[in-house]
Amino acid sequence: MTTNTNTKKLFIKTWGCQMNVYDSNRMADVLAPLGYKPVNAPEGADMIILNTCHIREKATDKVFSELGRLRTHMESKKAEGGRTLMAVAGCVAQAEGDFIMERAPYVDMVFGPQTYHELPQMVMKATGERVVNTEMPTQSKFDHLPQENDNQGVTAFLSVQEGCDKFCTFCVVPYTRGTEFSRSVNEIIEESKVLVKAGAREITLLGQNVNAYHGTGKDGKTHKLGSLIAQLAEIDGLECIRYLTSHPRDMEQELIDAHRDIPKLMPFMHLPIQSGSDNILKAMNRKHKADKYRDIIADVKKARPDIAMSSDFIVGFPGETDQDFEDTLQIVRDVTYAFAYSFKYSPRPGTPAANMQGQIHENVKKERLQRLQTLLNEQQIAFNQGCVGKIMPVLFDRKGSRDGQLHGRTPYNQSIHVEAPENKYGNLYKVMVRDGQANSLTGELAE
Ligand code: 5AD
Ligand code: SF4
Repeated sequence: MTTNTNTKKLFIKTWGCQMNVYDSNRMADVLAPLGYKPVNAPEGADMIILNTCHIREKATDKVFSELGRLRTHMESKKAEGGRTLMAVAGCVAQAEGDFIMERAPYVDMVFGPQTYHELPQMVMKATGERVVNTEMPTQSKFDHLPQENDNQGVTAFLSVQEGCDKFCTFCVVPYTRGTEFSRSVNEIIEESKVLVKAGAREITLLGQNVNAYHGTGKDGKTHKLGSLIAQLAEIDGLECIRYLTSHPRDMEQELIDAHRDIPKLMPFMHLPIQSGSDNILKAMNRKHKADKYRDIIADVKKARPDIAMSSDFIVGFPGETDQDFEDTLQIVRDVTYAFAYSFKYSPRPGTPAANMQGQIHENVKKERLQRLQTLLNEQQIAFNQGCVGKIMPVLFDRKGSRDGQLHGRTPYNQSIHVEAPENKYGNLYKVMVRDGQANSLTGELAE
């Protein structure tokens, strides 16, 4: 192997959602022309970026303890006469940039999610001074990011929409990610074609409120997510389309119909409800009732009866009574989920719910979370076991957990490990599900 002395090692640690994973890939793209190459470990790195998530508790503490750990790598690099640029990016940087700079004097750069296209200039500047950039410009960072490169592999992520104007009372996203913005249809199609040319067979469209997507089409008209998906489905070589995360308020018939009409659109929908109680939904500013959510699910299941549903839940929101919590358990029983995330409510400074009366005691939150998770786990296991004996298409995207196995995802977004030769990597094959565990399936080639 030849060593390029101009190559610099870039280590990015990513927390949080798929938007952050996507952003980390794009940061690597932006830094590539400066000679930075991504590496998998911090040892000897010329630049370290912590791409942070602010959504749940102790986010800032976690960043400080990681910084503390990584500092040893900076010191050893320094002892060898080198230098590691240390950067904190993402939502914690956006929210607490000045505090980080004050508490961690060895951090060179702090920058928010709307500024990644300015990274090369920030890196230049950081060689002489410390840089804080937490601007939230109205102009899109996407206009300045380079074309998607080919480092995403068989399953790729693509941001189509960013930001949120919904202001759920528990959530920091509207403050850290800024107002809602949709990219144009053309930009997304062109980027998808580049990804497919580089080997992607599946694209997951990302957005904090992905179904609020409203991008301008070539015809000058506004296109919603259903129309965008229909246009992407025309791309030869693209086999599977997924999207994350949807909001019940933005659910439109066009997207529901897309689940009936577009075979490339996978039968999986992540549609967080957060709580099954109308009182709590109101206090959360979700602006819909539990029955409206039930109606949406009924329409979705009519369009695509086998669809797998997933959700996020928060327990112990301020003022949540035993009855409110029972309502949450009831909606879980009514919908039956294939998968779900559930969290204890955690007050985020600066959000309205943090100052609400009726904060719930930690022990109550713990107990409710446990009861909810027991029910959700039962449903997840039942869903996975219900797949045993079925034949479904699976795209192999990496090595499996054992030798001789490949890993892929079922249409319902379950992880599956299949005995298959390595040359099947990167393509779709019919797989017979042999066994269903709590978190994954195993299967065998059915062709
Ligand atoms: N406390 C607990 N969970 C939260 N989430 C967002 N903010 C909070 C908070 N303050 C959860 C929501 C959201 C998911 C991404 O994180 O369920 O849908
Ligand atoms: Fe946060 Fe609510 Fe916006 Fe989702 S919809 S990002 S939970 S404010």
